[in-house]
Amino acid sequence: MLFFYKKGKSITYKKTFFTFILLCNTLSLTALQNVSIIGTGYVGLVTGTCLAEIHNLEDYTITCLDIDTHKIKQLNNGIIPIFEPGLQELVQKNMARNALSFSHDIANTVSQSNIIFIAVGTPTNSDGSVDVSYFYNALETVIKNATCNPTTIVLKSTLPIGTGEKAVDYINQYGNKNITYYVVSNPEFLREGTAIFDTMNPDRIVIGSSSDKALPIIHALYQPFITNNIPFLHTNLTTAETVKYAANSFLAIKLSYINEIANLCDKTGANIKDVSKGIGYDKRIGSTFLNPGPGFGGSCLPKDTLGLLATAKELNVALNTVTAAVSTNQRQKLMPYKKLKQYIQSDALNNKTVAILGLAFKANTDDIRYSPAIPVIEKLLEKNVTIQAYDPQAMQEMKKLFPSLTYCNTVDTAVTNADAVIVITDWPEFKSLDMNNVKQLMRGNCIIDARNILDQKTMHELGFQYAGIGIPSLS
Ligand SMILES: NC(=O)c1ccc[n+]([C@@H]2O[C@H](COP(=O)([O-])OP(=O)(O)OC[C@H]3O[C@@H](n4cnc5c(N)ncnc54)[C@H](O)[C@@H]3O)[C@@H](O)[C@H]2O)c1
Repeated sequence: MLFFYKKGKSITYKKTFFTFILLCNTLSLTALQNVSIIGTGYVGLVTGTCLAEIHNLEDYTITCLDIDTHKIKQLNNGIIPIFEPGLQELVQKNMARNALSFSHDIANTVSQSNIIFIAVGTPTNSDGSVDVSYFYNALETVIKNATCNPTTIVLKSTLPIGTGEKAVDYINQYGNKNITYYVVSNPEFLREGTAIFDTMNPDRIVIGSSSDKALPIIHALYQPFITNNIPFLHTNLTTAETVKYAANSFLAIKLSYINEIANLCDKTGANIKDVSKGIGYDKRIGSTFLNPGPGFGGSCLPKDTLGLLATAKELNVALNTVTAAVSTNQRQKLMPYKKLKQYIQSDALNNKTVAILGLAFKANTDDIRYSPAIPVIEKLLEKNVTIQAYDPQAMQEMKKLFPSLTYCNTVDTAVTNADAVIVITDWPEFKSLDMNNVKQLMRGNCIIDARNILDQKTMHELGFQYAGIGIPSLS
């Protein structure tokens, strides 16, 4: 069954929708639902916190679980292990009203849970395929310990297409025969940096399920969103999984495309900022994801494009567009380094000092997974460059990868005596730097702006050798 509700759709759909709402109300008023979330990372913590925020204590309890005992201890002490704007306040508020708790006693909590989310990591194997071992560990724990009848298992992790059906087979084989299990694929679309907003205002909710009987349970859980007319798409398990991979691959293609067009502008003298505006005004294209940069990073696009390609390879299906997006991105990550070499020749880099502004893969997060800063740092270290790095949130994480860099507490310290500055992350504070002051502190005068966030005219007036991406130089 395909169920899709959106404001203005046909009356039949609306009737079906209101029947569901009725069912949901009945369900949420009659039974307290214990919800547990296995995996308290960027997704699990935000999902759990937002679910706690939108529900009454009488209807739902939310417990976030993790095998990382240090993380759970921190959370129980009110310390948020990740940087995500607005999260700390929301966690503390919901802990204080007993709507949200944290535990590493996974077995016991799962045994009392009606709804169990699995939101563990699904990193990339060395061959590009998805490492599903954390997922199967979590699923095994659920199967061993669940006692509620029915038990709804919500797959929130991004899992290779077909995993939901495999999970159903696994449960049929090893699950408790006295329990009815519903398996639901509910892909997550939040963006780090705006995760709370995205979770509270999703563009859509996608639910793939093994049984229609899971629907009222999931509807009740997401009822506040559904009453706000957020589109709700019900599909089978495999389709929901495919939606997630197709969405992220599409975004990756869009970014690689605009990066290539920016590289073309570098040669032609066109201005990518206006090109992006010019094509973004076209509603068929849309204006988001049209800013060129140093390549996409983060825990999703690089991993999910590779994951989709691994599935396609297994099935002998060509996904040439996705393959191209991935290889373009690999080249794009060296763009800041190549631009630097336009001003400082490769053999002259030895013993130079370069300030790197921004280590996170994007602004408003401390996540450095696949950050475009990493290949630039590696290249500079190969050339024996001294790196003075600054990031408002991500330095602790980057220290684990590159302990030998000089980490600075301010932009001023990072740029002091630098021969060149490379802006990697589009942190708002970099947009309003006092560049006159930066000029005084630097030894050299080269600025590589891999995000096009500095004002080119000011750079020119101050006498910097300035390179953005896809913008013609001022002479
Ligand atoms: N981060 C994002 O922006 C984002 C967005 C959409 C989807 N996703 C997907 O969501 C999933 C989670 O991503 P994340 O960024 O939150 O990962 P993360 O690495 O931040 O968190 C995963 C957590 O799971 C815990 N864990 C692992 N195995 C466990 C087990 N057996 N029992 C309990 N806890 C366990 C880890 O200790 C860790 O705290 C991934 O599949 C990812 O692709 C992530």
